Amino acid sequence: MILKEVIIMPTNLDISKAMTVKLDDDLSEMPEFVAGIRRAPKRELMLNQEEIGLALKNALRYIPEKWHEKLAPEFLDELLSGGRIYGYRFRPKGKIYSKPVSEYKGNCLAGKAMQVMIDNNLDFDVALYPYELTTYGETGQVCQNWMQYRLIKKYLEVLTENQTLVVSSGHPLGLFESSPDAPRAILTNGLLVGEYDNQKDWHKAISLGVTNYGQMTAGGWMYIGPQGIVHGTYNTLLNAGRLKFNIPYEGDLGGYLFVSSGLGGMSGAQGKSIEIANGVGIIAEVDYSRIQIRFDQGWIKKVVKNPADAFKLAKEYTDKRKNISIGFYGNIVDLLEYAVNKNIKIDLLSDQTSCHVPYEGGYCPQGLAFEERTELLKTDKIKFIKLVNQSLVHHFELIKMLVDRGTYFFDYGNSFIKAVYDAGVKEICKNGKNPNDGFIFPSYVEDIMGPLLFDYGYGPFRWVCLSGKHEDLLKTDKAAMECIDPYRRFQDRDNYIWIKNADKNKLVVGTQARILYQDATGRIKIALKFNEMVRNEEVGPIMLGRDHHDSGGTDSPFRETANIRDGSNVTADMATQCFAGNVARGMTMVTLHNGGGVGIGKAINGGFALVLDGSERVDKIIKKAISWDVLGGVARRSWARNKHAVETAIKHNKENKSGDHITIPYLVSEDLIERAISRRGLKNTD
Ligand SMILES: NC(=O)c1ccc[n+]([C@@H]2O[C@H](COP(=O)([O-])OP(=O)(O)OC[C@H]3O[C@@H](n4cnc5c(N)ncnc54)[C@H](O)[C@@H]3O)[C@@H](O)[C@H]2O)c1
Repeated sequence: MILKEVIIMPTNLDISKAMTVKLDDDLSEMPEFVAGIRRAPKRELMLNQEEIGLALKNALRYIPEKWHEKLAPEFLDELLSGGRIYGYRFRPKGKIYSKPVSEYKGNCLAGKAMQVMIDNNLDFDVALYPYELTTYGETGQVCQNWMQYRLIKKYLEVLTENQTLVVSSGHPLGLFESSPDAPRAILTNGLLVGEYDNQKDWHKAISLGVTNYGQMTAGGWMYIGPQGIVHGTYNTLLNAGRLKFNIPYEGDLGGYLFVSSGLGGMSGAQGKSIEIANGVGIIAEVDYSRIQIRFDQGWIKKVVKNPADAFKLAKEYTDKRKNISIGFYGNIVDLLEYAVNKNIKIDLLSDQTSCHVPYEGGYCPQGLAFEERTELLKTDKIKFIKLVNQSLVHHFELIKMLVDRGTYFFDYGNSFIKAVYDAGVKEICKNGKNPNDGFIFPSYVEDIMGPLLFDYGYGPFRWVCLSGKHEDLLKTDKAAMECIDPYRRFQDRDNYIWIKNADKNKLVVGTQARILYQDATGRIKIALKFNEMVRNEEVGPIMLGRDHHDSGGTDSPFRETANIRDGSNVTADMATQCFAGNVARGMTMVTLHNGGGVGIGKAINGGFALVLDGSERVDKIIKKAISWDVLGGVARRSWARNKHAVETAIKHNKENKSGDHITIPYLVSEDLIERAISRRGLKNTD
């Protein structure tokens, strides 16, 4: 006799009874959509009928059965009109913004601190498209939908010191028993199995509601507004000037002109950065609402509406060697066209449109106003793609002409060069065919950020004063400054000046946060000092973290690891090990994402957050985990034979005889390799 298994699915009543953390039984009213809040454009929807059904079923998994009848058509509408199911009805009423940590509900400090960070990522004055849970970088979301947001919050309210919350691409999988020394939350975003790690499968998965684009600190819940990138942009611009125009180390960019585009989530930092470096900047932006925000925040000082006015004003200031940031309302291609035709000299040139997703609306083609771009995306995607490609090709031609006249152009980590290549420009490749040998223009990491900062372990260390008090931030600024020896290296001198002037430069947007590039030694020293200050009740609790864009946090061949030249830049071991090591050492929140700032399949990136509660337990984590977080990156860069990383690794081994030990590469003479090859008569093949 053959026994047949009878499959009886549990009922929704059984399911509901089995959960204590779940969405409320009551269905809230659809909250009001306030006019003037930026809204995400329609996202690509490539699902067939059956898959649309699956997407609906997936979204309704969060919802008690009694509301399915009502919500199925509502969710279907959202999917068909916006390309995603955001579950707008579950959005809390009114504005979201971060409050002092003591005002949040919770069983542990970490659970409350993460709520502060999530709310900051969705703050209406901070986030790019707050209704669509998008923090920055056109598509970088905190989580996929508002049901997840509500559920995550509920989990964080009950989380204890003996549990870990696991979040898969925005979906809170659940709480699992752990220990006070384990992370309180482990987040991953957009990780796809290799065979499916491509745009097409990605689009399908995100429309089905099973993955999320976390960018870096959007889905990693550690965004601190455009301040997060200001210090890196300032470092990049200043060092570009030193490198290309022989500006002395104690000098600045007085008299030099920087041109770029984008005043959005991260790109919005460009105006502020050039001003701090005492240069003149013109930043093109097609969306007036973003110009207005940056103007109101004081992050750009003047707004002009035609290229002639922009360059005239810029010249007045470069002549006087005075600083100014000018927002140009219009397309970057129009601005550059004017500069080429009028033979205007641009010293430093870059681009920070969202070119990691040019066809999703990240890049506005020449000839279309911003509103027309949004409309065309909805009505004729094929035409939109064609216009983007045409515009990128022309954009490239203009850059090339300017570079031939002496401009220094660099890719600023937005995948611009790759987008130009994808638009059909083979000439942008060094070998004229494919990106295998790199591109004719450098990425900022190749020339500047990699050799001068990441190879030593300097990276974007940051902290948030969870009390929400500005006075706490001022105390931490002062304490951090006292931890830096400005005579150790030129980077330390730069960082010392940076933190000294940080408050004066009015960088805070959202939470009371600070960015400060530091190496491992500096980060540990400052973190221990801060924890001591928390212990002594001089300041409230602090959340430490960093951008994923760091020495060891990100594997991205066209960006963070663009200066890795031993062939290993196609691997993602470093970022993954960094993540695993931070979990093992008990960081409070640990994250690993696909795509970062460059797009799906092009990067694996991770970050951390550590809540400083003043305890000795946290002192121990600081010493072990921060050291690992930075030195894993230095060790990998050293193994790739990067000069400064090798020097840093040698120094570290000498100073840590009983602790860490890094494997350092023996160096081989180029001549010897050439002789060995030529003796065998080997020739280059494609
Ligand atoms: N280098 C880094 O460290 C770094 C860090 C974060 C993000 N990024 C990358 O930089 C890019 C921008 O990030 P973001 O957060 O500012 O994105 P964003 O989408 O918020 O801002 C981009 C801005 O560019 C504008 N724009 C688009 N096309 C334009 C055009 N042709 N002319 C003028 N303006 C145009 C848009 O209107 C938008 O305001 C993304 O690709 C992101 O991944 C780089």
